[in-house]
Amino acid sequence: MNIQIRGIHKVFANFPALDGVNLDIESGELIALLGPSGSGKTTLLRTIAGLEFPDEGAILFGGEDIANRPVRERGVGFVFQHYALFKHMTVAENIAFGLDVRKDRPSKEAIRKRVNELLELVQLSGLDKRYPTQLSGGQRQRVALARALAIEPKVLLLDEPFGALDAKVRKDLRRWLRELHDKTGYTTIFVTHDQEEALELADRVVVMNRGRIEQVGNNQQVYEQPATPFVFDFLGSVNILPGEVKNRELRFDGSDDVWDSESQETGLVDIYVRPHDLQIVDSQAPGLDATVTLVQRAGALIRISATLATSGERIELELSHLDTLARSRQPGDAIRVAPITFGLFPRAPHRRPTTLPDVVPNAPAENRERAR
Ligand SMILES: Nc1ncnc2c1ncn2[C@@H]1O[C@H](COP(=O)(O)OP(=O)(O)OP(=O)(O)O)[C@@H](O)[C@H]1O
Ligand SMILES: [Mg+2]
Repeated sequence: MNIQIRGIHKVFANFPALDGVNLDIESGELIALLGPSGSGKTTLLRTIAGLEFPDEGAILFGGEDIANRPVRERGVGFVFQHYALFKHMTVAENIAFGLDVRKDRPSKEAIRKRVNELLELVQLSGLDKRYPTQLSGGQRQRVALARALAIEPKVLLLDEPFGALDAKVRKDLRRWLRELHDKTGYTTIFVTHDQEEALELADRVVVMNRGRIEQVGNNQQVYEQPATPFVFDFLGSVNILPGEVKNRELRFDGSDDVWDSESQETGLVDIYVRPHDLQIVDSQAPGLDATVTLVQRAGALIRISATLATSGERIELELSHLDTLARSRQPGDAIRVAPITFGLFPRAPHRRPTTLPDVVPNAPAENRERAR
């Protein structure tokens, strides 16, 4: 079932939770809605489900406007942000719920068969007589999913389905959800504020901010060609340095060297460079002079913090342990640094804070990975 979302506005007590949202979703796609807290992800999902009504705009399922269709008739399976299984019902009764309340209720035998199939699909065979309190968090999430799948939804909507779980379980369930999606082929929209989860799992990622869509693209597009400073920032750490573009040539403030710029930008710019898109170059090559302040080795990665000679600004590099110009660096060393790729945006009126992780020497790698 393809879904078209056209010009959706939704205001809660003067607050625009959705501010002109347009999105086309193809049949069978797995789409991630990614954005910070309060950006409108749940509101958009609830609007698609029919649990919330837009002030303006339309939602079409397979070309048909569903504004006047009650939730029950939309054929959506929904897993809520804070999963709620019926506590007084067994796992089997929870899964059967959507079928039991149907007008055209299948026979007892048919329901039992379907429940068993679903239990197998979510890998919980044999747990049908348990109650929700007798399950782990991850098992409960899978029961919630099975319950949503029971009605054979045309559209599956998942609001942070793995939000409450620890990192390891999340990773397992993530892989499992992708396989499940490929098996069932349901059009699926899931909400997350975890960048890695969105990039790894989804066919396309919809990046939301303040009730608007900033960018829609596959993982490579949103990560490697972020359309806005917000997307650049939200999807990973980044060095932000001042510069200027003239005649399609970029110059960093305080440097005479120039880099070709394919961007349309001209005038004063902010240059966005990810730590792994900076390299150490020969002292004669075009680049920026800097002094190393900190070196961290984490497996195959060398993280170097340095201050620029021109501005004293802190920059962060992420290099391979195989990089001969990087591997023997010590604090105090003079280095020359050049970008491999970068994004250019008009210079912000107020200095944007860079979003480099705080560097903690010798902290375990997993603590540093997402220090933001
Ligand atoms: N029923 C409501 N009444 C008033 N304001 C609401 C209501 N529902 C949502 N909002 C507001 O709308 C904005 C968007 O909320 P929404 O729940 O869609 O965000 P979200 O992206 O899902 O955030 P989170 O990641 O925290 O779940 C928030 O500022 C929220 O406070
Ligand atoms: Mg939410």
